[in-house]
Amino acid sequence: MSNSPKKYTRITTKTLAEMKSKGEKISMLTAYDFTLSTIIDKAGIDVILVGDSASNVMAGHETTLPITLDQMIYHASSVIRGVERALVVVDLPFGSYQADSKEALRSSIRIMKESGAHAVKLEGGNQIQGSIERILQAGIPVMGHLGLTPQSIYKFGTYSVRARQGEEAKQLISDAKMLEKIGCFSIVLEKVPAKLAEEVAQKVSIPIIGIGAGGKVDGQVLVLHDMLGMSKEFSPRFLRRYLDLNHIISDAVISYSADVKSQDFPNTEEQY
Ligand code: KIV
Repeated sequence: MSNSPKKYTRITTKTLAEMKSKGEKISMLTAYDFTLSTIIDKAGIDVILVGDSASNVMAGHETTLPITLDQMIYHASSVIRGVERALVVVDLPFGSYQADSKEALRSSIRIMKESGAHAVKLEGGNQIQGSIERILQAGIPVMGHLGLTPQSIYKFGTYSVRARQGEEAKQLISDAKMLEKIGCFSIVLEKVPAKLAEEVAQKVSIPIIGIGAGGKVDGQVLVLHDMLGMSKEFSPRFLRRYLDLNHIISDAVISYSADVKSQDFPNTEEQY
């Protein structure tokens, strides 16, 4: 029964720390709505991220930049209504925390108050240290996000692997240590070399959750719609598809449409 999702009644930031110290891996997926968050929570996912990837996945934008704080709160409150066990973390969207630490705190308070979520996530290291400290001082748990930070896509120019070079790798390790020191409860490491991610996971005591960061970290996160195979175009090396939902949904719609047109649906059992 060691893999039973019922083992912890409610996942908290403390549970995640315990899991790291016991060497138990943490599972995390994104969700943006009530129906899917209910399913993945019941299936035993440890952490649900209401990611700003909703901007791509739910709204069809090319980047995560357009999604607003109000839209993130809408998604987060829908997710929260479906969750009994998982820890729910919400991304602070682009433009809701970069100006100054007061704005970062105000945005975090809105997320916590209006959605009922359990923690927030911010992208970046030393440049947003003051903002993270201020949020933490208000008693709001913070998850960091280093490596590929999609809100800075126009600065990077590409979504390619980050921190391959010595200087950037050194900076990433120093940022991770700083996030641990000021009190973040966990860090997402996105698209960095597996060896570097392993080193970070060994050097800091808080859980490191990887996406495209290899298997020697404390947990993994994927975008739910990607791992369910709903999107066909997005195929990075790190993505494992557990379903081909794109075909399954498409076949179901083709069958339904054919049944309507042939008058097979509804039959006499399916009417009042
Ligand atoms: O927004 C998101 O989905 C994320 C994950 C990719 C970590 O930040």
